[in-house]
Amino acid sequence: MKIETYITKLKNLLTESRFTHSVGAMQTMAELADIYSLDRQKAETIGLLHDAAKDLSKEVIDRIIKEGKIRIQHNCEMDYDNYLHGPVGAYLIQKEFEITDQEIIDAIYVHTFCDCDRNFNNPLSWCLRISDLIEPNRDWTKMGWMDVGVKELRKVALQGHMKEAALIHLNLVIKLFKTNTVTIHPNIYRCIDELSSNLLYLP
Ligand SMILES: [Fe+2]
Ligand SMILES: [Fe+2]
Repeated sequence: MKIETYITKLKNLLTESRFTHSVGAMQTMAELADIYSLDRQKAETIGLLHDAAKDLSKEVIDRIIKEGKIRIQHNCEMDYDNYLHGPVGAYLIQKEFEITDQEIIDAIYVHTFCDCDRNFNNPLSWCLRISDLIEPNRDWTKMGWMDVGVKELRKVALQGHMKEAALIHLNLVIKLFKTNTVTIHPNIYRCIDELSSNLLYLP
């Protein structure tokens, strides 16, 4: 399947604003792929399809969770908008978009911090989490501190410092989730510990 086919199919699954966000993520993933010497086509596919499951109906979501035997590892993952749409999306793209590449599937699964055993710290997975915030169609201006943080994140990521960008990203997500009273996934804290203590290597 070609990217044009993905785009046509995706338009039927997403709201207009989510589709625009997805195209922005695709463009940013292409930029980051060049900077970090990653497979550009894979990166674009990941960016485009990462939120494929986010606007599904409750019935379809429940069916996919059963059919895909999706495991809830932490209670906070019951929060679909912030966490579970990653795992559900990873299943959906295999079924609906015939994606078989494990790095693509896993990057989408773990972009919401679920399941640290699946390419969790693959550079493509980190580029997706970063692109999700910095893509050009996302407007943070109503949240001043976030707008400032995202600009800094964009600058550092485009300079080629993935580890530093990952840390900025994690701290922004924590602050954003606390502001919105969203439970912080334990894997988010775990990432900060691993990155800060150099247990984890990123470029
Ligand atoms: Fe998402
Ligand atoms: Fe997203």
